[in-house]
Amino acid sequence: MAGTFQIEPYLHEVAARVDGALAALVESRRGRGPDRLVDAMGYALLGGGKRLRPALVLAACRAHGGDCGDGSLALRYAVAMECVHAYSLVHDDLPAMDDDDLRRGRPTVHRAYDEATAVLVGDALQALAFGHLLADPSPRAPALARLLADGALLMVEGQQRDVEAEGRSLTEDEVIELMRTKTGALLAASVTGGAFCAGADVAAVYAVGIELGLAFQIADDLLDLTGDAATLGKRAGKDVAAGKATLPALLGVEGARLRAEALLERALQALAPLGPEAAALRALARHVIDRKK
Ligand code: IPE
Ligand code: IPE
Ligand code: MG
Ligand code: MG
Ligand code: MG
Repeated sequence: MAGTFQIEPYLHEVAARVDGALAALVESRRGRGPDRLVDAMGYALLGGGKRLRPALVLAACRAHGGDCGDGSLALRYAVAMECVHAYSLVHDDLPAMDDDDLRRGRPTVHRAYDEATAVLVGDALQALAFGHLLADPSPRAPALARLLADGALLMVEGQQRDVEAEGRSLTEDEVIELMRTKTGALLAASVTGGAFCAGADVAAVYAVGIELGLAFQIADDLLDLTGDAATLGKRAGKDVAAGKATLPALLGVEGARLRAEALLERALQALAPLGPEAAALRALARHVIDRKK
């Protein structure tokens, strides 16, 4: 049952497995790329982060009876997904975007290094992600690369919507579309990719991923309102200051919380037919909105 599943040890185990693979990926460029770039890539990828997207990949694979062990296609996809996510954070923090100085409890990449290096780290991590994924001999790898590419492109479109929306008042539908693309797409690609690695029919899984993605962004926006930098590892209170278009800004804290809860319930209903192997996925779904950071 989701209620008895221990989510924190599960996330720690995923992080340990994913971090090892990420460190090896960075080291594969050592002595080839300029030291400063390789160091900054390692800085962006390692030493923090909840690894929620990799956990969703692996849990969705497991939920559908697939192999998510070491050497599996699912683990390779999980690592590629985290590289794309890390790249999105590095660019999101740039002065031209959210202009943040703190990420995962440390100075952002452009603060620890410089802006040009941060732009290039993002570029490099995206290329590294696809190279890593397509190095897998599985006949399923190209379809996963397509799924990741679609998610990454939607994320960028969502980021453009986010920037353009600053200081403007959007309708609820417009805010949902912004969230669906900037955040929902990569979470949906995580859950869908994991299920695909297990050979499952993925159409219904994608919808679950979007629901979780929307709930995840609502939780992020609520934490920006109610959390603190020491807990979050990033600055709080910035969305109102920047005039960001968020659901809490539109519906209020309580309204947004209820919406996140409703999205979670829908996702859990869709996962109900899956057996006990889906315990981790159900617990992760709940964690998406219960998390404190
Ligand atoms: C932050 O994502 C960016 C959003 C999409 C809101 P996470 O909250 O998953 O960040 P990390 O990976 O744990 O640092
Ligand atoms: C960022 O959303 C989503 C991305 C695609 C990176 P936010 O701008 O709200 O994420 P945080 O709060 O900086 O982590
Ligand atoms: Mg942003
Ligand atoms: Mg931001
Ligand atoms: Mg935020």
